Amino acid sequence: MRGLPLKVTSLLIDMLKYLPPADNHTPENKEAVKHSNQAIAEIMDADIIVIGAPLYNFGIPSSLKAWVDHIARANVTFKYSEAGAEGLIKDKIVYVAIASGAIYSNGPMQPYDFVAPYLKSLLGFLGMTDLKVFRAEGTAYPGQAEAALQKGIDSIVL
Ligand SMILES: Cc1cc2nc3c(=O)[nH]c(=O)nc-3n(C[C@H](O)[C@H](O)[C@H](O)COP(=O)(O)O)c2cc1C
Repeated sequence: MRGLPLKVTSLLIDMLKYLPPADNHTPENKEAVKHSNQAIAEIMDADIIVIGAPLYNFGIPSSLKAWVDHIARANVTFKYSEAGAEGLIKDKIVYVAIASGAIYSNGPMQPYDFVAPYLKSLLGFLGMTDLKVFRAEGTAYPGQAEAALQKGIDSIVL
């Protein structure tokens, strides 16, 4: 609203938007980017990555989104060329375990199944295309939590 002071602060946006190429990092840039570098180093070191994703408000928890924002870095984990986008996190096996109160893989809630397609698209974009999703779903249905969990466990094929 006009006249009201407005202050918008986002450390992540400051870090990523104004980051110069790594060779030119100032001490401030290095400090700002250290968590991102650490998260990316962990992924690059790993052969197998397991992601737990409880459904929160039809999406992923904000902590998982923050991790995504730290690992998705232009010219570090993906790049664009004339051929299009290329993911740079290669040769990984990824397992995504989704837990949800309701059931999204089939039935009336299926149109709200955003998380599995989102994580497949995002991680695939970064190069992680060997990905399997397992679901423990319906944990909030009365008396069905145990069965939902067992069904999720039984669906795991590695
Ligand atoms: C803040 C919050 C939001 C949630 N939003 C949804 C939702 O949108 N859809 C859903 O099916 N379940 C939702 N749930 C239920 C969780 O996905 C469900 O309890 C799941 O089993 C959580 O896994 P956990 O028990 O390992 O934490 C929500 C739970 C919490 C705490």
